[in-house]
Amino acid sequence: MTDDFETLFAAAAAVRRNAYAPYSRFAVGAAVRGDSGRVYAGCNVENAAYSEGQCAETGAIAAMVAGGDRRLVEVLVIGGAPGDGTVCTPCGGCRQRLAEFGGADTPVHCCGPDGVRLTTTLGALLPHAFGPQVLREVPS
Ligand code: THU
Repeated sequence: MTDDFETLFAAAAAVRRNAYAPYSRFAVGAAVRGDSGRVYAGCNVENAAYSEGQCAETGAIAAMVAGGDRRLVEVLVIGGAPGDGTVCTPCGGCRQRLAEFGGADTPVHCCGPDGVRLTTTLGALLPHAFGPQVLREVPS
């Protein structure tokens, strides 16, 4: 594993400890690397009004945009327990949010606390994505 990967993993593991998940008891940490090289992290934040809960990836994206980056070049998510085999892939809504700022080839590492369980890409997670390029095709 590269230093870059370890930095991303450590950021997601650290923020995951702050996850607020009293309802699902499923803590998630996410980290994204902006094209500046800076790393931004987020955890899931649930709510008693369940549908108002927010995923870890959404928090990481918000931190990235607030921090001044507009493109993400690598994504890492941690969920599940050691040895449980869970592959915590981004939910459908987060795939769309990630695709707004990443490319089809952007790597997405889906991890457990013990390491990577699947490395895939945004394009594989969200083929035929709806994105800004579609809107640009709308005649004005
Ligand atoms: N969750 C995330 O934060 N990211 C994912 O990639 C999958 C699911 C959260 C949402 C909710 O708080 C909990 O995990 C269970 O669905």
